[in-house]
Amino acid sequence: MAFPTETVYGLGADASNEAAVRRIFEIKGRPERHPLIVHLADANAVPAWAAEFTEPAHRVAARFWPGPLTLIVKRGARVLDIVTGGQPTVGLRVPGHPVALALLRAFGGGIAAPSANRFGKVSPTTAQHVYDDLGTAVDLVLDGGPCAVGIESTILDLSSAEPSILRPGGVSREDIEQTLGRVVPVKVGGSVRAPGQMESHYAPKAKVVLAKADDLVREGDRLRAKGKKVAILTNVMPPEPPIGIETILLPVGLAEMARGLYEALREVDRRGFDTVVVSVPPSVGLGLAVADRLEKAAGPKTAEEP
Ligand code: TXA
Ligand code: MG
Repeated sequence: MAFPTETVYGLGADASNEAAVRRIFEIKGRPERHPLIVHLADANAVPAWAAEFTEPAHRVAARFWPGPLTLIVKRGARVLDIVTGGQPTVGLRVPGHPVALALLRAFGGGIAAPSANRFGKVSPTTAQHVYDDLGTAVDLVLDGGPCAVGIESTILDLSSAEPSILRPGGVSREDIEQTLGRVVPVKVGGSVRAPGQMESHYAPKAKVVLAKADDLVREGDRLRAKGKKVAILTNVMPPEPPIGIETILLPVGLAEMARGLYEALREVDRRGFDTVVVSVPPSVGLGLAVADRLEKAAGPKTAEEP
C-alpha cells in the first residue's frame, strides 16, 4: 500500500516478503538492482536489519529519528537481496509521520518503500499525486494529508569509516556535521547504485531549464520566441513578465520551497507547459536538496542508467 511520510508518500511492502517487494518494482517500473529503504517503527528494530550500528549511527539516529534521515549501514544476515539490490549495505529510516508510525507499529516488521511514483518521475507529496501516478495498480493509498517536508530523506552512508551524504534531503548537511562533529562530504553520483543519483530523475514531463535568478525572464522569453509554451517558476513575482510567459509562484523560504516544489512541478505538467525555467537556491540548509532535485529534473531525459 502507499502511505504518507513526512518527506514524500512511500509505496510500501513487507520487507521480509520477497514476492511483496517484487511487486514494488513491477508497479514503479524500477530496475530490480536499485535498493530500497527499510522503514522501521523505532531504532529498537535496527538489530534485526543491520549487522552493526556504530556510535555515529546511534548519535544521528538519536538526534534525527523519527525524521527525514536514511542511514546506510552494513546489512543484517536475513535482509533480502531484493531489498538491498545485492549490496552489502541496507538503508534504514524511522519516518516522522504519525500515520507511517502507526502503520509500522501495527504491522510490527520492516516496510520496504521507495517513493510512490513511477520510476524517474516527480515524487508524490499528496495521496492524490499517488493516485494520479499509480492509479489502481496499488491496492490501497493511506491519505495522511500533504507531506510537511516535501522532498525525500537525506541519505547518509555510515557503512565505512568515512561518512558521506549520498542524497541531500530533509535533514541538512550542516545539522549532520554538527551532530557528528566532522565534515561530511556530499558524494552524489558516487559508485553506489541509487536511482536518485541518475542524471534525469525527479523530472516532470516539461523540460526543466535552469537559469540565474536575474536571467529567468530573459531565458523564458528566449524560449518563448522559439515557440515553446513557457512557465517560469520563482518565488519573486517578476515586475513585468513578457506576454506569453506564465509565472508559477513558489513559496518564499527554503523549507516552504522544499514543501511546495513537487506540487509546483506537477502544476507545470497539469497546465500543459512544455518548458519551465527556474533558478536553483543557494546550497545552504535545505537549499542543497532543492538545488539537487532541480538539477536532476533538468538532466537529460533517459530511463537508462548512465
Ligand atoms: O524520504 C524518503 O527517503 C522516501 C520515503 C518514502 O521514505 N523514500 C525514497 O525512496 O525516497 P527511493 O527508493 O525513492 O529512494 C531511496 C534512495 C534510492 O536512491 C536508493 O538507491 C537509495 O536510497 N538506497 C537505498 N538503499 C541503499 C543502499 N544500501 N546503498 C545506497 N543507496 C541506497
Ligand atoms: Mg524515488
